[in-house]
Amino acid sequence: MKRFLTLPLMLLTFILLSACSPANEQIPATDMSDQQGNHEGDEENIPDIPTTGKNGPYLILFCSRTSNTERLAQQIQSQLDCDILEVQPVRPYEEDYNAMLNRTQEELAAIQQGNYPPISTSMDNFDKYDVIFVGYPIWYGSIATPMQTFLHEHASKLAGKHIALFATSGSSGISTSADEAAELCPESEILSPTLLLTSSQFSEMDSRVTSWLEQLNIQTANNNNMGKNQIRLTANGKSFTATLVENSSTEALKARLSQSNISIQMNDYGDMEKVGSLGFSLPRNDQQTTTDPGDLILYQGNSFVIYYDTNSWNFTRLGKIDGVSTREQVLDLLGGKGEVTVTLSLK
Ligand SMILES: Cc1cc2nc3c(=O)[nH]c(=O)nc-3n(C[C@H](O)[C@H](O)[C@H](O)COP(=O)(O)O)c2cc1C
Repeated sequence: MKRFLTLPLMLLTFILLSACSPANEQIPATDMSDQQGNHEGDEENIPDIPTTGKNGPYLILFCSRTSNTERLAQQIQSQLDCDILEVQPVRPYEEDYNAMLNRTQEELAAIQQGNYPPISTSMDNFDKYDVIFVGYPIWYGSIATPMQTFLHEHASKLAGKHIALFATSGSSGISTSADEAAELCPESEILSPTLLLTSSQFSEMDSRVTSWLEQLNIQTANNNNMGKNQIRLTANGKSFTATLVENSSTEALKARLSQSNISIQMNDYGDMEKVGSLGFSLPRNDQQTTTDPGDLILYQGNSFVIYYDTNSWNFTRLGKIDGVSTREQVLDLLGGKGEVTVTLSLK
């Protein structure tokens, strides 16, 4: 209901704003250049492949008509060195200013009736990502329509993911659009704070992005611990380390640990392992594996397992406790048989 009242109000505000100030103050007329992303998926139903970076668990999605949001997306990408993909409408926006404004207003009104304007961008899944950065220009207080369509069409695939919102505007705030994102993706977690740059703040882009990523506790390419492959485990009053293997599961685990420690209540199973729920899912890299004592395993994407004996199964190997090779050594670290709480932290 709130959105039905908000749009006419924003339309009126924006029309007044546009009328009182030169168009290029509110709506910079810079042309898009150097388009990001691989638009192999422009043909219908073929998913797009993001332009890849080296920093695994993060993806930047953005839409941008006059390149302000694109520049902000590129600034975030340059600090994170992660994957990036531009969301595009099937039909480019009209060059004629009034025709473009009319179309955007019609699209926003249609969305309120549940009709989303077509876009040419889609993703198969977001399995390898933990945090998805979603950037858009503010249109009449709302998320620009191509990104609304993308979130609407991918909401179920984004369930359980963290979403970090960023936006640009002439002067409007981001909070209405953040509420819209939460409505469009009810099963995703919208991270706080969001990042908004208004036109008078574009010159501060670099420093604003740096401090935003710090506030979100996001590891940047220059200052990450992705290269360090050890984590700390604390159990039964003892603290010991484990060395992780390199895959998208461990990268996502470390990204989680950079935000907070993880405590897992673990119980014995089959006289060979202790197992407990992580409380969330990690990307799976399952393959047939035979375990040794000390192996750390991800089972079905959401259970953490410490093996003290051998087993063969199709699951994801995460790593191994350092300096142990026997059942007795592992059980000694974990306080023997019985329930134990194990806390994981970055070393
Ligand atoms: C259709 C349309 C509606 C807009 N509505 C608003 C608005 O409500 N408030 C505002 O501050 N700026 C508004 N703007 C300005 C844009 O949010 C701003 O110029 C933004 O930086 C454009 O990003 P882009 O270059 O990535 O497309 C609007 C622009 C357009 C084209």
